[in-house]
Amino acid sequence: MAHIEEIAQHEGRSVTLRGWLHNRRSSGKIHFLTVRDGTGFIQAVMSRAAVGEELFLQAGHLGQETAVVVEGEVRADARAPGGYEIDVSGLRVVGQSRDYPITPKEHGVDFLLDRRHLWIRSERQHAILRIRHTVINAVRDYLNTQGFILADTPIFTPAACEGTTTLFPVPYFDHATAFLTQSGQLYNEANAMALGRVYCFGPTFRAEKSKTRRHLTEFWMVEPEMAFATLDDAIELAEALITAVVSRALETRARELDTLERDRAPLEAVRTPFPRITYDEAVRVLQDDDRPVEYGDDFGGADETLLAAQFDRPVAVHRYPSAAKAFYMQPDPERPELSLSVDILAPEGYGEIVGGGQRLDDLDLLLQRIIEHDLPQEAFEWYLDLRRYGSVPHAGFGMGIERMVAWICGVEHVRETIPYPRMLYRLTP
Ligand code: 4AD
Ligand code: MG
Repeated sequence: MAHIEEIAQHEGRSVTLRGWLHNRRSSGKIHFLTVRDGTGFIQAVMSRAAVGEELFLQAGHLGQETAVVVEGEVRADARAPGGYEIDVSGLRVVGQSRDYPITPKEHGVDFLLDRRHLWIRSERQHAILRIRHTVINAVRDYLNTQGFILADTPIFTPAACEGTTTLFPVPYFDHATAFLTQSGQLYNEANAMALGRVYCFGPTFRAEKSKTRRHLTEFWMVEPEMAFATLDDAIELAEALITAVVSRALETRARELDTLERDRAPLEAVRTPFPRITYDEAVRVLQDDDRPVEYGDDFGGADETLLAAQFDRPVAVHRYPSAAKAFYMQPDPERPELSLSVDILAPEGYGEIVGGGQRLDDLDLLLQRIIEHDLPQEAFEWYLDLRRYGSVPHAGFGMGIERMVAWICGVEHVRETIPYPRMLYRLTP
């Protein structure tokens, strides 16, 4: 059994492919069948002379997405998209398909999203999902080889991590309300005190009523956390991780990047170290450009795009005012109104791909922040324990997988970077 992605190994030999009919064109004596098998797309050329009248006629009526087994010889052809074609000697139908709803013509995005379970068969979506797979693997490989231990964090949680306004409540039997996790960070901190350098990697949830190209209500985040570490350590790790992921995509997904017509130059420019600017400098850049930002605000999407456009690689913006960030940020000892926080902004308008920093390690100050943020102290007692029993400086971050994939693929909206996107107005299919 052959797979399209490794068809080159079979040049000159007869192979059997199992897949689906993606497209068909005919010119009298020849059918050009585009077959896909999940690993790629290939053109199978069927001539009346080679297969006989009966099969040739049958093939002329096959519907798009008919499941087929195709036999034929692999031939190199410089003009073919993958460099090879199949000269068909036999074809068998495994599963019929009639009136497949997604035709080669243009469809509106809502039409496609309603049929996401079928849309993922198309060539662009196929390329994006394969790149997503590579991004996730590259993240895991990088952290695993750097000595990080994967320690999973819960999805049902008793309290907020990233502010109480974006929590999804879930009835938890009849005695409690649970919340879907916004981030594994708090548990990650406990895990780091147990295991040193750790990461969690899973789905996270935000009841964000924003309809932007960068927001999902369910997204995947990888979160490394390190004991005995500072803001600088977190920035260095984030730079190395981002660089490793981008290089892996460039090395192993050239074909998919071609399908997406992705300009490689901005990705090839991604090298460490990344430029770093402080929040104060960022505000100045924005105000000089007449953006309506007030000192103290968090940045909006358009602000992030403008900031990132000053550089040829991702930029690390650090030391946001504590008031603009979550309760757990360590204050800057030089200027306590600032936090030891960082956001890394991707080029080309993809916005914040990483957010993190150094965590508050002092018990009294952390308690004070929990009270100031009106968080239920009881639910955070276990978290406060980390400051009672051997507290150390520690730092980490979260990287949003869909935003990374959107940037690497050069696709406009994160909804195409996850198999089944969940958004404000979309819970199906
Ligand atoms: O900046 P955020 O909110 O940081 C945290 O959750 C920290 N607790 C992480 C940590 O330090 N361990 O989210 C981190 C990243 C963002 O930079 C962005 O890439 C992604 O998660 N992200 C989203 N991606 C898609 N849709 C959303 N609604 C997202 N919100 C955040
Ligand atoms: Mg953030």
